[in-house]
Amino acid sequence: MKTTPHILVTGGTGYIGSHTVVELLIENYEVTIVDNLSRSNANVLDSITAITGKTPNFVQLDLCNADAVTTFFNAYSTPFDAIIHFAAYKAVGESVQEPLLYYHNNVVSMINLLQAANTNGCNKIVFSSSCTVYGQSASLPVTELTPRLTAESPYGNTKQICEDILRDTVNATNIQCISLRYFNPIGAHSSALMGELPLGVPNNLVPFITQTAIGKRASLSIFGNDYNTIDGTCVRDYIHVMDLAQAHIKAVEVLLATNQAHHYDIINIGTGVGSSVLQAVNAFEKAANLKLNYSYSPRRSGDVEAMYANVDKAKAVLNFSSQYSLEDALLHQWQWEQALQRNG
Ligand code: WQD
Repeated sequence: MKTTPHILVTGGTGYIGSHTVVELLIENYEVTIVDNLSRSNANVLDSITAITGKTPNFVQLDLCNADAVTTFFNAYSTPFDAIIHFAAYKAVGESVQEPLLYYHNNVVSMINLLQAANTNGCNKIVFSSSCTVYGQSASLPVTELTPRLTAESPYGNTKQICEDILRDTVNATNIQCISLRYFNPIGAHSSALMGELPLGVPNNLVPFITQTAIGKRASLSIFGNDYNTIDGTCVRDYIHVMDLAQAHIKAVEVLLATNQAHHYDIINIGTGVGSSVLQAVNAFEKAANLKLNYSYSPRRSGDVEAMYANVDKAKAVLNFSSQYSLEDALLHQWQWEQALQRNG
């Protein structure tokens, strides 16, 4: 009898993880979340239940604690059918200030997870990687064959290191893996019941836009308008978090269906469209029907001028392509910001 696949989601109370858990539950997967709650809140479980009518299993677990990880996996007599590994710190600027925090958290957790998964017979892993591994590519859009450049931050370097750990582990074991290189995740669940919960002052553009629009921030600073782009501001590939969640479902489906030994694949997950910061601001003003208070500031160190994806492989291998527009994502994130204000 076909049993329901059981998926382990590390970092599943985080921004992208929680949206992926929602899609997994809707697709009738069994889900267990592990998270140490260092950068997220267990209240998101209530949001997941409110959206899906289902409650995922949740275990508070620090993947940097090898003994705790071993104990956790030993409690499951039947191995997880697949793991989606989100758990990691992801603030570029913080990683520059605290490199050892990032190398320890992001790399040790990966090593502990792989060792326990391999021991316990769970051999299918989807990894949360990032376009940041490309650095400033000379050719755009980037494909998966575009060479990785020296990472612009310790955060980006942890993603490169983890990709290499996965590649080498796949070659030496029966673990199969797909690394998804996200471009810029934005937006919130269309229900406005769940979304990004940035801690403190947002580093990323879109939460800063919505917090400025709602009055939490006085004004948006656009970091640099002297780049060699359509309007002088940086170009990015902004993908709706709900599209990104769907890409993980597709990757799990491919892994569950493959028995190819030493299967390791890297796939860009973006829209394939580059949008400038100013274009994003203008799109937000149109979607929210308001004028945003912003001004231009000097460039932010570490920013690449332009980055957007060639998405052909995601379509060919995962049968995935993004469905939501930039305006959809901005409107959904605005509706979420307004819900946060209503709910205090
Ligand atoms: C986007 C653009 C800024 C804030 C990083 C990581 C990436 C992923 C997403 C984890 C840039 C400009 C921003 C502001 C601005 N992280 N900006 N004013 O840096 O492209 O990507 O976050 O998965 O891996 O590298 O995203 O949103 O910070 O910046 O002008 O207040 O918006 O200069 O051009 P980024 P971002």
